[in-house]
Amino acid sequence: MVVDRNQKYRMSSDTAYRITDFFNKMTNINSVDEFSVFARQYWYVWLIIGLIIVIMIVINVIMLVYFHRRRKPIRQSDYFKKTLEMARTRTIMVPEKVKENLLSEENSPDTNSQFAMEALIANNKYRALHDCPPLKYNENLAKIAQKWAETLGKMQKLQHSPTHWRRFNNAVLGENLCYIYNSRLTGEKMMDIWYAESKVHNFSLDKQVDSQNFSQMIWKNSREVGFGRVKGASGDWWYGVAIYMPSGNIVGHYAENVPPITV
Ligand SMILES: *[C@@H]1O[C@H](CO)[C@@H](O)[C@H](O)[C@H]1NC(C)=O
Ligand SMILES: *[C@@H]1O[C@H](CO)[C@@H](O)[C@H](O)[C@H]1NC(C)=O
Repeated sequence: MVVDRNQKYRMSSDTAYRITDFFNKMTNINSVDEFSVFARQYWYVWLIIGLIIVIMIVINVIMLVYFHRRRKPIRQSDYFKKTLEMARTRTIMVPEKVKENLLSEENSPDTNSQFAMEALIANNKYRALHDCPPLKYNENLAKIAQKWAETLGKMQKLQHSPTHWRRFNNAVLGENLCYIYNSRLTGEKMMDIWYAESKVHNFSLDKQVDSQNFSQMIWKNSREVGFGRVKGASGDWWYGVAIYMPSGNIVGHYAENVPPITV
């Protein structure tokens, strides 16, 4: 009977017939012998099933890898959101005393991070005088600040970055700038330069053009900060940048954000 069907199968080239024949035979298998004949006869079916399984495994692996990569943030704002969360939970500990690094005057990452720590301590000291909460250091804001400081060093002049340069969640971040000639810019010097504007600030008025660095560094509602510094491309000019988040100097909100000295 098996031989009979086998012959029938060999004589026919009709695909539909082959398929029905395949299932007929499969349901008519009654013994181990019959099954082994069936398996030999349809070896290519097993091959195709095997190939399909292999292809499906490969497709699944490719999709897994693809979607895993896609999970990494692509948009800049997502990137910032994620790292900002990290910065919030890991407040950077700033030592009480930072030793002056006398060995290097260059823009090495080491001296720049020391500069940033000094600036943070000085900034928070001045904020405390005005009863404003200390700022947290944010590495992403520091990256923006450092990039802009490098741009200023190349341009060799002081100007604010374009607002699209420093955006977060559709809001423009606050930016303070300074330069100094013939002397290395330290974090303390930078803060002293900006704080000196407090002499011309009238605490009973709203927005003022001559004390914007001061009002931003003190601004109560600003919570995070990043600093950047660079030595200019020629001569002994140094440029410093601070980026604040959320931004300060908002018209109509000076009274509650820039309080006069309390101690
Ligand atoms: C901030 O300080 C720098 C350095 O003293 C000064 O050149 C700049 O005009 C100040 N910016 C504002 C908006 O007052
Ligand atoms: C500050 O502004 C107030 C309100 O305009 C004014 O009365 C006061 O004289 C100003 N103070 C100084 C020191 O200019």
